[in-house]
Amino acid sequence: MESKRSSFTGKLGFVLAAAGSAVGLGNIWRFPYLAAKYGGGIFLLVYIALSVTFGFSLMIAEIALGRKTKLSAIRAYGSLDKRFSFVGILCSLVPVIILPYYSVIGGWVMKYMFGFITGKTAEMAQDTYFNSYLGITVEPILWFLLFIGITALIVLLGVEKGVEKISKIMMPILIGLIVFIVAYTLITMDGAWDGVVYYLKPDFSKFSLMTVVAAMGQLFYSMSLAMGIMITFGSYMKKEINIEKSVKQIEVFDTGVAFLAGLMIIPAVFAFSGGNEAALGQGPGLMFVTLPKIFDAMPGGSFIGAAFFVMVLFAALTSSISLMETVVSIFMDKLKIGRKVSILVVLGGSLLLGVVSSLGYSAWADVKVLGMQFLDFFDFFSNSLLMPIVALATVIFVGFILKPKAIIEEVELLEPFKFKKLFTAVIRFVAPVCILIILVSSILTAFGIVSI
Ligand code: PHE
Repeated sequence: MESKRSSFTGKLGFVLAAAGSAVGLGNIWRFPYLAAKYGGGIFLLVYIALSVTFGFSLMIAEIALGRKTKLSAIRAYGSLDKRFSFVGILCSLVPVIILPYYSVIGGWVMKYMFGFITGKTAEMAQDTYFNSYLGITVEPILWFLLFIGITALIVLLGVEKGVEKISKIMMPILIGLIVFIVAYTLITMDGAWDGVVYYLKPDFSKFSLMTVVAAMGQLFYSMSLAMGIMITFGSYMKKEINIEKSVKQIEVFDTGVAFLAGLMIIPAVFAFSGGNEAALGQGPGLMFVTLPKIFDAMPGGSFIGAAFFVMVLFAALTSSISLMETVVSIFMDKLKIGRKVSILVVLGGSLLLGVVSSLGYSAWADVKVLGMQFLDFFDFFSNSLLMPIVALATVIFVGFILKPKAIIEEVELLEPFKFKKLFTAVIRFVAPVCILIILVSSILTAFGIVSI
């Protein structure tokens, strides 16, 4: 096994690969709809505060853990302490659950990309378009199959490097397009500035425990934390690379893209709804309902819309590839099967869960798990339950079993660890208490015992 463990070439190689995994639909699709729903400015504030304390410390811990053990997550915990082997198994479960429904949303992206290419912009800009599309039984499943099929093909042919190269070009274009769309909305649309105020100015009366629960789940999701991915990335990282600096770069990039995506969508929601705040709470469909309206209002909008969705597709693919890679290597390790067989197994399992997620919006719309549709349930189960459990176990493990010193030593192989006091305090005290509160409250809400 050891001999197969290759390393990233150079500094930028590591940062780019990790950023490619981190930046995806989580930033562009998930962040804006959560920010819109959970109070705008207050959500943004909580998110950024968590990101520079929590996200920073957890990402450092995971990468250092991987580099220290040179093992993937499923074995890293157990190799250091047998009692923590279960964490490895739990965090392997997260990408297994995320990959299928992530690919369903990837399918929505492809459908919209195709819609702009074929000039259906005006049709897609109608309020009811997205929901009636989701209500169709077969078509969304076909787009899902195409998305996950492409992901599997890339993993099978081993051409991830090629995709990463293309996405190095696509990412800057995507960011440029987002900035352009933001500027266009703010300059031409009445009411858009109210959205900027809503998004940037924290309204403390909108704060609730749910704001923190949602922000933390989003942080894990967006930074690909609490699911072993960063441990695996760390296991490939060379000793000459500075962990602290790399983490800061990944964080700035990931949070920056999410921030811009929010600025692209929330003001537009205000402009199109005439300031009606109910439009903010629509959830997962927000981006798919709002963006076509902007493109429809813009000269050359079909072209820009098509270009935009092509870039989003690339960002989504670099994330889905890293999700699938992780699951494939876990199955190879655990089931002692070859790579091709493992890809087939993962594909088969994902098809099943993905089809269920898709049908949850159409044929099985009446079926609810804990009051949620299948896709929302999978999202909730991984982000609000499994990830906090994994994160809690990780901080307890690093804080009290392995001890922060072991991580600090790994980080300090090259240069002093500037924020080591913050790191130790967060890992040992702040994080365990906060995650525990969050975990308990999300369990209580899910079972309808309290509403927060
Ligand atoms: N972080 C990715 C995103 O924001 C999603 C993802 C999660 C990718 C886990 C890989 C692993 O879209």
